[in-house]
Amino acid sequence: MLFRQLFDQESSTYTYLIASQQTQFAILVDPVLEQVARDVKLLTELGLKLNFSLETHVHADHVTGTSKLRSLTNCHGVVPEKAQVQCADRQIKNGETLMIGEVSIKAIATPGHTDSHMTYLVGKDRLLTGDCLLIRGCGRTDFQSGDPGVLFDSITQKLFTFPDTTLVYPGHDYRGQTVSTIGEEKAFNPRLVNQTRESFINLMNNLNLPEPQKMSEAVPANRNCGNV
Ligand code: FE2
Repeated sequence: MLFRQLFDQESSTYTYLIASQQTQFAILVDPVLEQVARDVKLLTELGLKLNFSLETHVHADHVTGTSKLRSLTNCHGVVPEKAQVQCADRQIKNGETLMIGEVSIKAIATPGHTDSHMTYLVGKDRLLTGDCLLIRGCGRTDFQSGDPGVLFDSITQKLFTFPDTTLVYPGHDYRGQTVSTIGEEKAFNPRLVNQTRESFINLMNNLNLPEPQKMSEAVPANRNCGNV
């Protein structure tokens, strides 16, 4: 398996390129519109054919590259079921697996940051946690049908049931961190250590964060696969 973590500096977004080295088929997870040229160049250099552009959720902080990638590569845009994205080629359900050659990508419903958010298990031991679980943090829950109690349940009852050695690859990082593990986040994530469901809800409801700069532009664009 080929596995690459790519970064967009403006939105601090991680995009993941995953490919089968047997079939040369590839998938991009959470591509960013402004980075499509970088992604297509890398696909070409590595001799890969893009099958799917997959979203963890409808983003509020950047516009997806899916529509542009689709026109350049004929890939299929895949979004979580229940996400309000009419233009997608395919929806993915909780428990469903996409195969890229020998590489499996399994959807695990982890709502809370948004109501239709998915985490993806790549192979046996890598979780693409989107904006559900971040390194020493978690996604915010104060817009887009976010719900802190639901997020707490997704993290503690779904993600924290994976073995401690499972790798955690988040959708964003703002401090230069790239990868963690379930064991590390159980031990050191300040949003979760020694928190009850009630105290977590209270913490999340009092973060008083500003709205993402691109929110009013990004959410409608992403419901249209990134056509702006
Ligand atoms: Fe998000």
